[in-house]
Amino acid sequence: MSDVLYFNGRFTTTDERVLGVEDRGFQFGDSVYEVFKFLGKRPILVREHFHRLERGLNRVEIPLPWDEASFQTTVRELLERTAFDDGIVYVQVSRGEAERAHFWPDNLKPTVVAYSRAFKFPDAAKKERGIRVITTPHHRWHYCSVKSTNLLANAMAKKQAQRAGADEAILLGEDNTVREGASSNFFVVKNRRLVTHTLDDCILPGVVRDAVVDLALSAKIPVEERPLREAELFDLDEAFITSTTQGVMPIAEIDGRVLRNGRRGEITMRLQELFDGLEANPK
Ligand code: PDD
Repeated sequence: MSDVLYFNGRFTTTDERVLGVEDRGFQFGDSVYEVFKFLGKRPILVREHFHRLERGLNRVEIPLPWDEASFQTTVRELLERTAFDDGIVYVQVSRGEAERAHFWPDNLKPTVVAYSRAFKFPDAAKKERGIRVITTPHHRWHYCSVKSTNLLANAMAKKQAQRAGADEAILLGEDNTVREGASSNFFVVKNRRLVTHTLDDCILPGVVRDAVVDLALSAKIPVEERPLREAELFDLDEAFITSTTQGVMPIAEIDGRVLRNGRRGEITMRLQELFDGLEANPK
């Protein structure tokens, strides 16, 4: 598939093989990425995605290749060149290319990639039906707040879910707490209160997670940010995941256990409406 590609300051397409084999993103997973959505060529929550990229790159000491204004300019041009109106943009900044060695040389030039891609976002039926999830131990590195391309543990968890006939894997810490999905954040509703993991190094600070927490608070739905204990998965009223591609997505089944006879929860539905409204009419 050929898509519009921004690579190190110029535009091309994904047909061009641009990366060197000694790029540290390829050899060491030494890179940070972002995925954001666009609708009618309008990027959604793009400032929030840019600032998370900035924080992640700072944390792993990769220079930020854009300021916010030049990032917005790159995104605008990428979307102008894109043939379709709705989709996702994948952005990746790696430390750069150098002769393979764990020690990186100083003053490496980061490799910067961004491309747009068509994406089938969940339709109304899927948003009502929800998804199946499994639980599985968390085998990731320690700084999950960084959106690192070290995604092997996540890919393996996701494949395990797929083989079990599920859509997502919910990752459990060694301390029997529930962290997040392999590519999403996790929420439960209990007694009309939302519970989701604290913002720390155990989870990615999801852009949709943050928006949903704010929307819930504005709608007077109390939010508890704390690690949920695994046992609480057996005593919940509603559960859902959040992510850029899935929005607010109800969970219909956990480890084969059907929740609420498969019916979407009332608070989940309310938050779906609020979040869809935010995407349609951003601040
Ligand atoms: N994944 N947690 C993890 C581990 C993720 O990979 C993602 C997103 C999220 C949700 O973050 P956000 O709301 O900012 O999309 C949480 C993206 C979509 C991906 O890797 O494709």
